[in-house]
Amino acid sequence: MKVSVFVGTSVDGYIARSDGALDFLPPDGGEPHGYNEFIASVDALVIGRNTYETVLALAAWPYSETPVFVLSTKALRPPPAGAVVERMTGSPEEIVATLTRRGFRHAYVDGGVTIQSFLRAKLVQRLTITRVPVIIGTGIPLFGPIARDVMLKHLETRQYPSGLVKSEYEVLA
Ligand SMILES: NC(=O)c1ccc[n+]([C@@H]2O[C@H](COP(=O)([O-])OP(=O)(O)OC[C@H]3O[C@@H](n4cnc5c(N)ncnc54)[C@H](OP(=O)(O)O)[C@@H]3O)[C@@H](O)[C@H]2O)c1
Repeated sequence: MKVSVFVGTSVDGYIARSDGALDFLPPDGGEPHGYNEFIASVDALVIGRNTYETVLALAAWPYSETPVFVLSTKALRPPPAGAVVERMTGSPEEIVATLTRRGFRHAYVDGGVTIQSFLRAKLVQRLTITRVPVIIGTGIPLFGPIARDVMLKHLETRQYPSGLVKSEYEVLA
């Protein structure tokens, strides 16, 4: 199963403010920058519980009927009607093995802690980071400490009129 990350950050690399607020990101992604095409290419999402809580607070569930696996050691608040949500625990290796066995082909991994753990386990193949033109100084970082370097191959960087800069990388083994 292929694993991809598609994430928006401040220029200084934060995915949310310390309290989880996303107000520094443009509403609805700001302008088309490939998110719709990306989300259409995945058949499962794997998100951390904190990201799930953020998504639950949105006006509408954004993943239609695509299965969403929420990583958490605790019971989840119930999803809205129509959402397909399952709680999962385990190492990234176990999660990828389970989803592969269940026939999933392309998972979108999201949430800071969750992305970091999948990157550390060398289980992410594609990393797309869209920087929005703002520096927020502190917050929840996209990246954290790692035992050894993660080598990337730069595939493409595109700039958009509103100032978004999207860079796509292949994660090398
Ligand atoms: N800018 C963006 O594009 C973007 C994208 C995604 C998220 N965000 C924001 O980032 C924030 C969330 O990021 P985050 O770093 O706090 O964390 P996160 O990855 O969303 O959630 C972390 C939590 O997930 C659970 N978890 C993770 N791995 C697990 C595993 N292997 N087994 C069991 N449980 C596991 C744990 O929850 P329990 O304590 O329940 O066990 C952990 O505390 C939110 O504010 C969200 O809105 C921004």
